[in-house]
Amino acid sequence: MAKSRILSGIQPTNILHIGNYVGALQQWVTLQQTHDAFFCIVDLHAITVKQDPKQLHDNIRQLAAMYIAAGIDPKQSTIFVQSRVSAHAELGWVLNTLAKVSDLERMTQFKDKSAQHHENINVGLFDYPVLMAADILLYQPEIVPVGDDQSQHVELTRTLAQRFNKQFGDVFHVPKLQLRKEGARIMALDDPTKKMSKSAGSNANYIALTDSADVIRKKIRRAVTDSGSQVVFDPKRAGLYNLLTLYRIFSGMTEAAIEKKFAGAKYGDFKADLAEVIITALSPLQERYAALIKDEKHIEAILDDGAKRAQAVAEVTLKKVYDAVGLG
Ligand code: TYM
Repeated sequence: MAKSRILSGIQPTNILHIGNYVGALQQWVTLQQTHDAFFCIVDLHAITVKQDPKQLHDNIRQLAAMYIAAGIDPKQSTIFVQSRVSAHAELGWVLNTLAKVSDLERMTQFKDKSAQHHENINVGLFDYPVLMAADILLYQPEIVPVGDDQSQHVELTRTLAQRFNKQFGDVFHVPKLQLRKEGARIMALDDPTKKMSKSAGSNANYIALTDSADVIRKKIRRAVTDSGSQVVFDPKRAGLYNLLTLYRIFSGMTEAAIEKKFAGAKYGDFKADLAEVIITALSPLQERYAALIKDEKHIEAILDDGAKRAQAVAEVTLKKVYDAVGLG
């Protein structure tokens, strides 16, 4: 029986952090074993905010290397760059004719980003979720594994698929959102009321996947907690809860085992241990990344192959869409 499909993507902007790793990449690594997986590097999305062209070019290769270093197997899964499969932009245009301005005005990511980039609120930034819907629907996936901040975009994707099917006949499979139970929203270290974010003003916000051991120790030591003393899982103590969630995910231990381990311990002791757990968990990934990033040809070959595989699937859906709409 054919495996059911998944699709997801990350923007090649700034640096990847442990929120991206936990919310997206770790899920992908597990799901690729049971699904026909497509992982996109969404460079067309990246240019909705100003990018340095040379830096963007390098970021694309670095993100591909990071996908592989994190455990995505390019033989098993398709890794590809969005702009190299032209069907994404083409389907995006068709879906634009179904998306309502009022749908897009509701998007919280647009509201946040336009506040952050008020000097450059371009049409692409507004239209971003429609291109994301095209990314997804072209591959007819069963599920879309992402972090919680992308839930609203996946919901819009479902709405657009349903709207299209209603108007033109059943072309799209309506995909489901897949969030992990814990870690779908990792919070910022310097402000646990906000999500950890690549575009944060301060690097105290996040732990980058490429941070050195010393930097990780320093950032965890400085992470905002509260004036309490007991190391227990209490969602109301947002800073500590976030750190404990990270401990759970990176150590694989249960809540009860963690609380027992740190019974009577101070926050400082817990934080020191957490830093070591994260360092140990990231170190194999960092070693693989350092080796991969030197081999530009190898990465390019993977991306070439990925573009061909993605193109073959995307073309079929785009043809169905064009035929249904009367453009075929
Ligand atoms: P991006 O590049 O901002 O983030 C990539 C992935 O990381 C997840 N993530 C988080 N998960 C947990 N905690 C956090 N603090 C955290 N921050 C980020 C995101 O939810 C995402 O899964 N619009 C998307 C990219 C995209 C896409 C797609 C995703 C474009 N087309 C098609 C899926 C399918 C974005 O900006 O992700």
